[in-house]
Amino acid sequence: MNDQRGSGQNLAAITNENVEAAYARWAPIYDKVFTLVMKPGRQAAAQAVNRLGGRVLDVGVGTGLELPMFSPAVKITGVDLSNPMLQIARKRVADLKLTNVEDLRVMDAMNLEYADDSFDGAVAPFVITTVPDPVRTMDEMARVVRPGGEIIIVNHIGADSGPIAMIERLMEKRAEKLGWRPQFPWEIIGDWIKSRPGLELVERRRLNPFGLFTIARIRKVQGDPTA
Ligand SMILES: C[S@@+](CC[C@H](N)C(=O)[O-])C[C@H]1O[C@@H](n2cnc3c(N)ncnc32)[C@H](O)[C@@H]1O
Repeated sequence: MNDQRGSGQNLAAITNENVEAAYARWAPIYDKVFTLVMKPGRQAAAQAVNRLGGRVLDVGVGTGLELPMFSPAVKITGVDLSNPMLQIARKRVADLKLTNVEDLRVMDAMNLEYADDSFDGAVAPFVITTVPDPVRTMDEMARVVRPGGEIIIVNHIGADSGPIAMIERLMEKRAEKLGWRPQFPWEIIGDWIKSRPGLELVERRRLNPFGLFTIARIRKVQGDPTA
C-alpha cells in the first residue's frame, strides 16, 4: 500500500497493469453503468473547457462520454492507457462526426508525449483517482498547459467521516480490481497546488448528485509550475 493521504490513512497502490486490466473489463459495460451518475461532473468539466477555448488535452478520455459536451470550437486531443476504452471513444467520434476531436491515442498520463506549454488547458474527468501516481499526472498536465491556461479536474473526493467514509474504506480494499481509489482525499490535490508556486486554485465546487463529485480549476500562472 502507498501512503499518499498525508493524514496517515493508506491509499491503495494501483499500477498501470491494474488500470489496463480493470478498464479492459469495464469497457464493454462502462457506458451503461457510468453515463448518468457522472453526467453533471462531465458537464461541469465541459463548461470550464468551453469557457477556456483553444486546444485542450483530455487526459483519461476513456470511452469519450464527455466528448460531445465540448464546444465544436474547442480542439480536443484525447489520451488514455486503455485501448478497449479508446476504441469506443473512436466509434463515438465517428458516429457523432465530432470533427473538433483531432486525435485519440494510447498514452500514459504520467508521461505525456507533448512539449511544454502545448495546450490551452488539460481536463481530467474521473481520472485522478484511477492513475497510479496522481501527483505525477497533475505535474504532467501542468507542464503541457501554457502559462495562463487551466488544469481542470473532476472527481469523487473521499468523505472524512460517517457511513460514506466507512463504505469507501471497505471499497478501497478492492481498488486494484475496481480501477480507482474510493478514499481519495482532497489533500492530494490541495497539497500539490500549495507545493507548486506556479499554480493557483481558481475554483473548487461540489457537484451533483448529492455533492458526491468536486470540480477543481487550477490556473498555471507561470512557465514552470514546479520552479
Ligand atoms: C473512470 S474512467 C474516466 C473516463 C472518462 N473521462 C469519463 O468521464 O467517463 C478513467 C480512465 O482513466 C484511464 N487511466 C487510468 N490511468 C491512466 C494512465 N496512467 N494514463 C492514461 N489513462 C489512464 C483509464 O484507462 C480510464 O479510461
